[in-house]
Amino acid sequence: MRYDLVPMDRSHLEGVLAIERACFRQPWSEQVFVDALYNDTVSLIVAQAEDGRVLGYAALSVILDEGSLDKIAVDPACRRQGVGEELLKVFLRFGRANLAFLTLEVRASNDAAIGLYEKLGFQTVGRRKNYYAQEHEDALLMTAEFPRIGVN
Ligand SMILES: CC(C)(COP(=O)(O)OP(=O)(O)OC[C@H]1O[C@@H](n2cnc3c(N)ncnc32)[C@H](O)[C@@H]1OP(=O)(O)O)[C@@H](O)C(=O)NCCC(=O)NCCS
Repeated sequence: MRYDLVPMDRSHLEGVLAIERACFRQPWSEQVFVDALYNDTVSLIVAQAEDGRVLGYAALSVILDEGSLDKIAVDPACRRQGVGEELLKVFLRFGRANLAFLTLEVRASNDAAIGLYEKLGFQTVGRRKNYYAQEHEDALLMTAEFPRIGVN
């Protein structure tokens, strides 16, 4: 499967929203994505096939030297082919160069996402009890830390 990792723009909205609605019980609305596109503290990237189709996307927000992975999703038809890993690696490369750590929350039952995060070095550092109250489900808090070379 051939694709490029590119910054998201309005041309990707339709494809992103289709995946978003297929993946999440409480999907981000179109307006949330549009606001994120114009928010300087948010970075949105897309895995785009040669024909322009959106295969997956991810969002990172940054405040000072702290990063938060706010979103990552891959088209159900394109999973287990490394797309999620390549998307996340973009933010990890950015994190290593610019951040102290990258944090995220994930449903305790989301084995696929937890597997991805653990493969790329995230560790579980906390648990928010009943965070997803509707489903009585806990969230795991996971973090990847980036040691500062040369800083005391
Ligand atoms: C999580 C998600 C983004 C992974 O995307 P993906 O492109 O299928 O993942 P990759 O193919 O890059 O997999 C990378 C690694 O993640 C782990 N992984 C991925 N899917 C997995 C699964 N179903 N079960 C267990 N581990 C899994 C594996 O360690 C895998 O490495 P491997 O293929 O060498 O075993 C995808 O499952 C998804 O979109 N889920 C729905 C949205 C979601 O839950 N997002 C996270 C919200 S916190």
